Amino acid sequence: MSDELKRASALAALEEVQPGMRLGIGTGSTAEFFVRALAEKVSAGLDIIGVPTSERTAALVRELGVPLTTLDETPELDLTVDGVDELDACLQLIKGGGAALLREKIVAAASTRMVVIADDSKLVETLGRFPLPIEVMPFDLEATRRAVVKAAVSLSLEGEVKLRLNADGTALVTDGGHYILDGHWNLLPDVPALAERLSAIPGVVEHGLFIGLAKAAYVAGPSGVRQISVTTADETK
Ligand code: A5P
Repeated sequence: MSDELKRASALAALEEVQPGMRLGIGTGSTAEFFVRALAEKVSAGLDIIGVPTSERTAALVRELGVPLTTLDETPELDLTVDGVDELDACLQLIKGGGAALLREKIVAAASTRMVVIADDSKLVETLGRFPLPIEVMPFDLEATRRAVVKAAVSLSLEGEVKLRLNADGTALVTDGGHYILDGHWNLLPDVPALAERLSAIPGVVEHGLFIGLAKAAYVAGPSGVRQISVTTADETK
């Protein structure tokens, strides 16, 4: 995805930010364009406060001088702007490519409105080309992995479920101290059923299927930024 498209979608979402807002601030390279543009507005006098969705975003936001808070101090947010790994036209999402899905989902759920920013290569008819991130407890890793495989097989999903590794071959550890399993199933025809079955597994902390959380998406393509909304018809900005 080109940086121009990332920036275009980020700037479209920035238009939703109003003075005094309490913001959830997403993770990933597209969200980083949003953070940088937001920081410029803050330097110019915009009064907002933000809750970052990862340590990575927190470090960037701190460096750029955007005021930070926590969900303990500010449990209700007005707007969250986040990136996404894959989305469909109903605004069902796959998130967690950056391993931040747990905090991202908590922050999105604490927000009156969540919008996602992406280029049009991430918009798909059926979710699943992007491997589904599932955050799990290290304690019972293999038992949990097998339970995830079983849940997938019960929905006729075939494919590998792999532990996400760092470049040095060690298990990637999330900000919450958990591991990530990636489900390589290719197509997820029944997203709500899979979400329900994964949530029922005790060792699963959270999964990267976001259903009913995003209210709009700003999807950038060569002909402009298209807004997809759950309440209104598509429009081109
Ligand atoms: C982070 O865990 C993900 O949910 C990100 O939002 C996602 O990986 C998007 O990243 P890019 O904007 O870099 O594609």
